[in-house]
Amino acid sequence: MRKLTYYVACSIDGFIGDPQGDASSMFAFLDEEFLGHLASTYPDTIPAQGREAMGLKDAENPNFDSVIQGRGSYQLALDAGITSPYGHLREFVASRTLGASPDPNVEVIDGDLVARVRRLKAEDSKLGIWLCGGSRIAGELLDEIDELVIKTYPQVYGTGMPMFGADFSVTDFSLESVRTFANGVLVRTYARKR
Ligand SMILES: NC(=O)c1ccc[n+]([C@@H]2O[C@H](COP(=O)([O-])OP(=O)(O)OC[C@H]3O[C@@H](n4cnc5c(N)ncnc54)[C@H](OP(=O)(O)O)[C@@H]3O)[C@@H](O)[C@H]2O)c1
Repeated sequence: MRKLTYYVACSIDGFIGDPQGDASSMFAFLDEEFLGHLASTYPDTIPAQGREAMGLKDAENPNFDSVIQGRGSYQLALDAGITSPYGHLREFVASRTLGASPDPNVEVIDGDLVARVRRLKAEDSKLGIWLCGGSRIAGELLDEIDELVIKTYPQVYGTGMPMFGADFSVTDFSLESVRTFANGVLVRTYARKR
């Protein structure tokens, strides 16, 4: 089985955005060192427009061949007139309201989400699956998550959109690596304990 990785940005207190999900305060930390790290290690998570601006248009995908988003997250792209924000990956959007896919590269998952993710995980590929978010879909897919890559920005939100929109339950992970940056950002990678 290949891995489902929730790769996500959050505040020190574990919020992925303000109560509406807006995480734009984190953009201030996209400096040269951190952007260099993103470009060299996770270019597959940079949306098409960013890849073009960073000279990464044709960069290979080192980690993932697929991305899963909830419609809440995908809506941000739609609102900007973009139907395929991650055209270098296979795109999956969970939604019961979107109807037909607005883009040939996007598969809408409107049935059994967990079953579709399990089928994807069972596919034969050296690359993994990126769970982009947001909160609600991450909560629904928590049991399927094999790895967490958490970019923590040195800000406290006090309240906001949680990393997982889920009921209380304890799920154990083991810390695999921590990388720190001069601007105070840290990137932690955790493996699911099974
Ligand atoms: N900080 C970060 O790294 C990061 C990353 C990603 C997103 N975000 C933020 O997260 C926010 C969105 O998060 P969110 O929790 O509001 O929404 P979300 O999890 O992205 O999407 C929720 C939507 O997904 C669909 N969905 C959920 N479960 C489903 C299922 N079992 N079957 C079919 N469809 C299902 C539903 O869409 P329908 O209503 O269409 O049925 C639901 O409304 C955005 O504001 C974004 O900025 C932050």
